[in-house]
Amino acid sequence: MSMRPIRMGMVGGGRDAFIGAVHRMAASLDGSMELVAGALSSTPEKAMASGADLGLDADRTYPSWEQMLESELALPADQRIEAVVIVTPNHVHFPVAKAAMEAGFHVVCDKPLVLTDEEASELVAVQQKTGRVFAVTYNYTGYPMIKEARHLVQRGAIGKVRKVIVEYNQGWLATPLETSGQKQADWRTDPKRAGAGGAMGDIGSHAENLVSYVTGLKISEFTSDVTTHVEGRSIDDDTSILLRFEGGARGILTASQICPGCLNDLRLRVWGTQGGLAWHQEDPNTLKQTSLEGPDRIHHRADGSLCDAATAVTRLPGGHPEAFIEAFANVYRGAAAAMHAGQDDGEGYDYPTVHDGARGVKFIGAVIAGGGQGWQKFQE
Ligand SMILES: NC(=O)c1ccc[n+]([C@@H]2O[C@H](COP(=O)([O-])OP(=O)(O)OC[C@H]3O[C@@H](n4cnc5c(N)ncnc54)[C@H](O)[C@@H]3O)[C@@H](O)[C@H]2O)c1
Repeated sequence: MSMRPIRMGMVGGGRDAFIGAVHRMAASLDGSMELVAGALSSTPEKAMASGADLGLDADRTYPSWEQMLESELALPADQRIEAVVIVTPNHVHFPVAKAAMEAGFHVVCDKPLVLTDEEASELVAVQQKTGRVFAVTYNYTGYPMIKEARHLVQRGAIGKVRKVIVEYNQGWLATPLETSGQKQADWRTDPKRAGAGGAMGDIGSHAENLVSYVTGLKISEFTSDVTTHVEGRSIDDDTSILLRFEGGARGILTASQICPGCLNDLRLRVWGTQGGLAWHQEDPNTLKQTSLEGPDRIHHRADGSLCDAATAVTRLPGGHPEAFIEAFANVYRGAAAAMHAGQDDGEGYDYPTVHDGARGVKFIGAVIAGGGQGWQKFQE
C-alpha cells in the first residue's frame, strides 16, 4: 500500500483562523497529507493572501471553495486534490462536505459535523452513495492513553462499566467576548453559524464522542439543564446532562465555557464493577487505573505496557511529552490509511467517521431541545 501523502485542499484556516493551522501541522506530522490547494477564507482577498503566506501555488489558491472544487476537477487525476479538509465555522460544513463528496473527493471535517439532524442524515446518505472516506476530527480519540483506556474497558480490566463522568470546562466565554468582535466567539455564539448548541455543540460534542469511543456505551435516555449565563447571548454557555446508558450504566456530562481559570479542562472518569480509569486532557500522557484491591496504577505513554492501538500512535520515548498535535495527527494517520486502502466505512481503520459525527449532531440537538423538560429517550 502506497503511503505517499494524500493531496489535500483546505476550506477555511486562513489568516487569523484557529484550527486550520493545527490541521496543517497534524496532516504533515507523519506525511499523511500535504496541502496543495486551498480556499482559505470567506473573504476572497484574504483567501488569496493566506495562500501566499503558506507558499501555496497561486494558481491553486482559490477565492472560493466552489472555485476550488471546479478547478481541481479539471486537473489530471494524478495532480488534483484527493481530499477536502473543512475548517470553517459550522454552518459551512454541510454544503462543502456534500459538494466535495459528490465531486469525488474524500473529506476531513471538523466537529460538530453540521447544524441539524437532517443535514447529518443527508451527509451520511451521500457518503454511502459516493463511497468516499469521511473523517470527523474528534481529535481527543487520537491520544494514546485514550486508546489504552478503550482497550482496558474492552478487555474487562475495570469490570462492567457502571458510571461515567465526563467534563469539558473552559472559561473564555465567561464574559460577552463576542461583543468585542473576537471572531471565534462571534460565530460560536450565533445559532445560525454554530448550530443549536453553544458550549454543548462546541465542546460537549467532544465529550459525547469521548465517552462513546472509550466505553462503547449507547445513550438511551438523558435529562439536560441548558443554561445561558451571559446576558444577551442566545445560545447555551453551560450545559449539564444526566445520562442513562443501555445496559444500566449511568453518567454525567457537563460542557461549560463560563468557568474562569479553566482552559481545556477535559476530564473523563469511568468506573466499573472492578475498578476505574481517569484521564485529563491537560496531562494527557498518563492514565490512572484504580481497582477494588488497590493500589492505584499510573499508566504512562510509552512505558512498554500499552496495547497495540496505543503503541502504534506513540512516537517519542516516555518522558518527552506528546500532546494535542500528535493526537490530532493520529486521526489524520487513520483517515489517510483508509483513503489509500479505499476503505470508506471506517472498518479496520482508527478514525472517527461520518456516523460518529451524525450521532453527535443528533445528541446536541436533542439535549438543547430537551433542556429542562425531564427525562428524554435517545436513539442513535
Ligand atoms: N477539533 C477541535 O479541537 C477544534 C478546535 C477548534 C475549532 N474546531 C472546529 O473547527 C471549525 C473552525 O473553527 P475555528 O476556531 O478555527 O474558526 P475560525 O473562525 O478561527 O476560522 C474559520 C475560518 O473559516 C473561514 N471561512 C468561513 N467561511 C468560509 C467559506 N465560505 N469559505 C472558505 N473559508 C471560510 C474563515 O475565513 C476562517 O479562516 C469549527 O467547526 C470548530 O467547531 C475544532
